[in-house]
Amino acid sequence: MVEPDPLVESYPLVEPNPLVELVETTNAVNDMVSTSSTSSTTVLRPVLAAVQRRRSHSKVTALAPTRAELLPLVVAAARVPDHGALRPWRLLELRGEARERLGEAFVAASTCEGSDAIKLAGKPLRAPLLIAVVAARRVSDKVAGWEQDAAAAGVAHLLTLLLNDSGWGAMWRTGPFVRTAPVRALHCLEANEELLGWLYVGGVPAGSKPGVRMSINPEEFLTVL
Ligand SMILES: Cc1cc2nc3c(=O)[nH]c(=O)nc-3n(C[C@H](O)[C@H](O)[C@H](O)COP(=O)(O)O)c2cc1C
Repeated sequence: MVEPDPLVESYPLVEPNPLVELVETTNAVNDMVSTSSTSSTTVLRPVLAAVQRRRSHSKVTALAPTRAELLPLVVAAARVPDHGALRPWRLLELRGEARERLGEAFVAASTCEGSDAIKLAGKPLRAPLLIAVVAARRVSDKVAGWEQDAAAAGVAHLLTLLLNDSGWGAMWRTGPFVRTAPVRALHCLEANEELLGWLYVGGVPAGSKPGVRMSINPEEFLTVL
């Protein structure tokens, strides 16, 4: 029996957003792999189901998870594989006028003027909440920087999945200004830190369709040495 994680216990997971209709998996192959049989019952494998129905939402509504709703998801995302448990990442919430300051930083980093600058400044306003993902490399003899970045990226992937699974729309975005001086300064990055982009988060619009994705041939992607 696995002991409950006290951190997860203290941050109970949020209820799913009722705006989201859970998408039933209709594909026969998916059905085959998303269930497992016990002696008397068929059990849905919830992680596999969540991954299968995940999608990014480029358009979201003005609803956003509260900080209190985000915290248990951050606890869960921190369970990502992490060599040496260095926690080489941190996240920043940008809401309200903080998003405007990000738009100003984009413009400062660009050569845009006039209507182009106004358009660029409005980019961060596409979602009510942006979560900046910062890779924060720790000093380590054992764990290379790239390994630490992989853990940080894993946190972002898990968090988008968890947000999606909780009924929120999310999309990981970067753009050409993510690693520019004005953007670095806005996020108060230390010398050991780099931005990996922002998770744009908001409500799922009513009538939003399930994501469409070309299925892959796993034989091409999983070979044997
Ligand atoms: C590191 C990273 C940066 C990304 N940056 C952008 C971006 O700036 N603009 C964009 O349209 N998609 C970007 N994407 C892709 C979207 O997050 C998303 O995966 C893509 O639109 C496909 O949608 P799907 O996740 O529903 O398949 C990025 C993805 C990753 C992992």
